[in-house]
Amino acid sequence: MPHVLTTIAEAKEVLPEIAKSDTIALVPTMGALHDGHLSLVDIAKRSATKTVVSVFVNPMQFAPGEDFERYPRTFDDDLAKLDEAGVDYVFAPAVNDMYPDGVKQTRVVGGYAAGLLEAAHRLAHFDGVLTVVTKLFNIVRPNVAVFGEKDAQQLFLVRRLVRDLNLDIDVVGAPIVREDDGLALSSRNRYLSTEERAAALSLVRALTAAASNGDRGIREMISQAQGALMDEKLVKMDYVSIVDPERFTLVNEAYTGKALVLVAAKVGTTRLIDNMSAYVG
Ligand code: PAJ
Repeated sequence: MPHVLTTIAEAKEVLPEIAKSDTIALVPTMGALHDGHLSLVDIAKRSATKTVVSVFVNPMQFAPGEDFERYPRTFDDDLAKLDEAGVDYVFAPAVNDMYPDGVKQTRVVGGYAAGLLEAAHRLAHFDGVLTVVTKLFNIVRPNVAVFGEKDAQQLFLVRRLVRDLNLDIDVVGAPIVREDDGLALSSRNRYLSTEERAAALSLVRALTAAASNGDRGIREMISQAQGALMDEKLVKMDYVSIVDPERFTLVNEAYTGKALVLVAAKVGTTRLIDNMSAYVG
């Protein structure tokens, strides 16, 4: 069984001792673990001699009215999976340990890329993410931290956080893990009914349609993707956007080169995101 650290004080007592003779790789999660998370654990295990997985549903990154209260909490099941995966430490603090005075006075605010796409639909989401990630980095003090490409905007912002604030952490990105039919694994997939689960495949259809039309230009790629989403009655599109992956800026019709297509949509009441690399030109 992994050693479970349930308080910040305990983590700060135990982990610096480990760091004297080991390197530490951290995988931050909100629990409800699936094979996508476990693929991050695999990468972590290959990147350092000890692995820490944090399990913390971070209230600060949920906007009012989002699913913070009903977000799946499956700690015993998560722990069994992390045991099987050979994780050394699980850091699972309580909300009032991480946020003893309620909302923090101090927060980590991202730059322009924190105001696009997801941010337009999830108010202050990335301030919450960047603040909790900074706290986790300071508590765990990892050499390496692994994040999934599934949350591409989050991964970009965490890389910038580390660079901009001179943190000595190697951020590693992990490829998206998908079901056999292409649906990206997500803790929120469990909210989907059978019908919604089928409709959710339109996200990956939209991305594939865009990515396979890279020779026809940005406008056509977006219109192909939107078409795939609009074909599904149960799906309400939030956005289809294409960014330059190096800068995370939206690209215009004149753009050629590597691109990232991002999609967000509500399937029934469940909001899903996905993305795919493409080449334009
Ligand atoms: P969570 O949604 O639990 O995701 C934890 C990590 O798993 C993230 O880095 C995410 O990108 C990755 N992940 C999720 N689904 C994946 C998939 N299908 N394939 C590959 N990786 C996948 O992201 C968060 O938690 C939080 O914002 C957090 C970073 C923990 C801060 O609270």
